[in-house]
Amino acid sequence: RVPEPCALVVFGITGDLARKKLLPAVYDLANRGLLPTNFALLGFARRDWGDEDFAELARDAARKAARTPWREEVWERLASSVRFVQGSFDDDNAFDELAATLGELEGSHGIGGNAAFYLSIPPAMFPVVLKQMQRTGMADSTPGRWRRVVVEKPFGTDLASSRELNELVDSVFTAEDVFRIDHYLGKETVQNLMALRFANELFEPVWNGHHVDSVQITMAEDVGIGGRAQFYEQTGAARDVLQNHLLQLLALTAMEEPVEFSAEEIRTEKLKVLRAISLPEDLSTFAVRGQYEQGWLAGQRATGYRQEEGVDPHSTTETYAAVRLGVETRRWAGVPFYLRTGKRLPRRVTEIALVFKRAPHLPFADTDTEELGHNQLVVRVQPDEGVTLKFGSKVPGSVMEVRDVSMDFLYGEQFTEASPEAYERLLLDVLLGDATLFPRNAEVEASWSVIDPLEEFWAGTTPQPYRAGEWGPRAADEMLAAEGRRWRRP
Ligand code: BG6
Repeated sequence: RVPEPCALVVFGITGDLARKKLLPAVYDLANRGLLPTNFALLGFARRDWGDEDFAELARDAARKAARTPWREEVWERLASSVRFVQGSFDDDNAFDELAATLGELEGSHGIGGNAAFYLSIPPAMFPVVLKQMQRTGMADSTPGRWRRVVVEKPFGTDLASSRELNELVDSVFTAEDVFRIDHYLGKETVQNLMALRFANELFEPVWNGHHVDSVQITMAEDVGIGGRAQFYEQTGAARDVLQNHLLQLLALTAMEEPVEFSAEEIRTEKLKVLRAISLPEDLSTFAVRGQYEQGWLAGQRATGYRQEEGVDPHSTTETYAAVRLGVETRRWAGVPFYLRTGKRLPRRVTEIALVFKRAPHLPFADTDTEELGHNQLVVRVQPDEGVTLKFGSKVPGSVMEVRDVSMDFLYGEQFTEASPEAYERLLLDVLLGDATLFPRNAEVEASWSVIDPLEEFWAGTTPQPYRAGEWGPRAADEMLAAEGRRWRRP
């Protein structure tokens, strides 16, 4: 489906996100023929630039990071409708000019008055930008013309601030015009979780506490904090990743089948899970946070977090967080959900693993089943996107020896189509007005209700150290060992 004629307005075009993700995504959409013929791209920033300067930045960014092959003619067509408006966020004139430019494009480029505003800016700037949009009437959807806003995470820093932020956004845009981005929901493999569960007969009957022993959700990164010290120092792993990406993965893993595959129904099911999450009573054992120290990664020396440029040498910000959660529903009561995320871990990997109970009885007397672990179903979100099923199998030979083997589905082998980048998919959905893959504000608030008590518990404490290149602090291993379990080593 191709969206109606429209404009995309990006605030924060010189930022990392715009250059690495948004601008390349716009080009990829154009290249796949998924943008309307009447489309305009507008950048807003303080720099003393003209349309050509912005077009050049957009071209460089797109060339560097586009997923699809470079085609000059596609770019040329896009470039003819690129506009730049200069100004700061408190500058009324600049916003009047932005509104006027949108009006002009309506006539010259036939964009029909439709526009999506992408706030790729620090949340502290949201109020002033939103008020400017309200003042100029730019935020108003009217019959025959839509206006939408895209808000990037973090959606606040705790429950109270996220409520405030939600109220503010909702006072300027109507709820259905607000798109909160959690880019993990744009990943193909995450969407495939729903296909796996609800398009098949095989998995759902065992997808519950009768058969599942525990669930492990991991998002590990080998990279450090890059140039984002300022942001990261105030945020930390729990707010940066656990509150959003990991809890959304948990919600999709644990939710009931939606009545239909629509934004409303899927969000409703996810929300029920988020509301049913329980924290462990003993947080000192079952909630762990860590901070990387100097170490080695892929043969290279990696500096410690406190030595990174821009980081306080006494920083107590965590770069690793792990927690054991429960989901208090009939399906999941008693099943621990172990979540972990960290920077400077041995490799980049995101996966959801269902670890099944052991077979209630093994009829092979005197056989060697030492090597036999638990059955596991692992959804590999990235990299090597796919699904693995681990189960026991007889080792060839005269004795009955059973050992774990695995059966693999790899996206790259089964499908020739390259998956769209998460931002490409989500940007298209914004322009189409399809909110299925965007969390609703009630979900965001329910997620903060899980994180707030953790942050409270951790306040004033120092994270446990782990060496860069290791799988997190020892306390994280002890957390699972306390219940006779072990983390997977993906
Ligand atoms: C972002 C976090 O939301 O996700 C970053 O702010 C993190 O800290 C990034 O590096 C990871 O995204 P991806 O898609 O590379 O797994």
